[in-house]
Amino acid sequence: MANDASAVSDALSGDFAARADPFTPPADSSLWHKNFLLGAATASYQIEGAVNEDGRLPSIWDIFSAKPGKVLAGDTGAVACDHYHRWEADIDMLASLGLEGYRLSIAWPRVMDAAGVPNRKGLDFYKRLLNRLKEKGITTFVTLYHWDLPQHLEDRGGWLNRDTAYRFADYADLMSRELAGTVDAWATLNEPWCSAYLGYGNGHHAPGLANGRFATQAMHHLLLAHGLAIPVLRANDPASQKGIVANIGRGTANSDSDADQRAAHLFEVQHNAWILDPLLKGTYPQDLFELWPGTEPLVLDGDMQTMSAPLDFLGINYYFRTNVASDGAHGFRDVPLEGVERTQMGWEVYPDGLRDLLTGFNSTYPNLPPIYITENGMASDDQVIDGQVDDTQRIAFLKRHLAAVDQAIKAGVDIRGYFLWSLMDNFEWAFGYERRFGVVHVDYSTQKRTVKRSAELVAKFLKERKARV
Ligand code: FCB
Repeated sequence: MANDASAVSDALSGDFAARADPFTPPADSSLWHKNFLLGAATASYQIEGAVNEDGRLPSIWDIFSAKPGKVLAGDTGAVACDHYHRWEADIDMLASLGLEGYRLSIAWPRVMDAAGVPNRKGLDFYKRLLNRLKEKGITTFVTLYHWDLPQHLEDRGGWLNRDTAYRFADYADLMSRELAGTVDAWATLNEPWCSAYLGYGNGHHAPGLANGRFATQAMHHLLLAHGLAIPVLRANDPASQKGIVANIGRGTANSDSDADQRAAHLFEVQHNAWILDPLLKGTYPQDLFELWPGTEPLVLDGDMQTMSAPLDFLGINYYFRTNVASDGAHGFRDVPLEGVERTQMGWEVYPDGLRDLLTGFNSTYPNLPPIYITENGMASDDQVIDGQVDDTQRIAFLKRHLAAVDQAIKAGVDIRGYFLWSLMDNFEWAFGYERRFGVVHVDYSTQKRTVKRSAELVAKFLKERKARV
């Protein structure tokens, strides 16, 4: 059954990919619906730069990226795309591409100090930005936490300290009072899995700690922070939508053996159910603690209820699948497939994973909220040649993933929009500036932006869609 569905999907997306006009979806595609939002996403630390300006305090990523060996080539976000100074031109560029939505994040260390006192200059930056987006008629999705925790909070334990969740609710309170009316949708957190697991579990991301017990406790406090913030956002800005953004991973089994099937199940528990179960069911998956014995977080009375506050939307970020086998004990190990298409990150291009996960969640969680794909895209080693960037692999990637989204919609999943990751090349965390995810190229020595072919084609499609009655 699953194999049949995949074959159909390949045929459909192949057809879409093969059309003469490279970005025209089939006539019956949901992408033609004008209320299906198409936008692009960025995040504060990845694009803003200006890390010492206007009273911004250090974040965990300033400190982490300055440590030797943590980020490829020793890159940091100190300058990044210099968006803090070039925001007007960047918004013009976004608007000129006809993109209808923009997902951005706020740098917590820019807007309040260690005592919680608002920093007017930092707040004004986001006010100007959001007002301009509104003037341009662009739908705004604002993420409160895209990984740049103020370092002063990390110095007091960061996400291992329960108090950080309460500080986050204070921050959400300030932002929603200041920015109410300019934000269409608030996302509390971006990818708590990455914050918890990469930040505290294996140390690949800031703050760089590596302990399984830390990962589950950090996740608990992140989800608590989310749950505490939701009612605050609702009270201060009732007209906007409130949600959270989760990364999801497809795990497939390397064989039909029970052990490998179980391994793939555990992979998805660790990547997906760890976040979605507490949010949507108010429980942690018990399988997680079979996989990681002895890592149960400390949960206080009422926490699970707080973190499962009803959501207006769920943001989903999807990139690739992982093929796994049993590790011979209680867990799984990666078994990279050979002969499959991969991106500059080494990630497999696997659009069916997006469709299969979405349809799976739709049957697992009866209260699944409306979904936005808040990130999807790929990195390639793009070069500007004669003033142009021909990112052929990305064009096919985007079309195949959009086709997968369309299939999920047709299978009954309520998906309302899709944001390209990313509007422009930027600081790709531990991989620095080498990995280019943008639909706009950035020359970091001159800060020149060059629209890639993929963005031109998306723009052409959006123009055509707008012109239809
Ligand atoms: C996601 C992050 C985003 C970007 C992409 C490639 O995990 O949310 O900031 O780095 O991966």
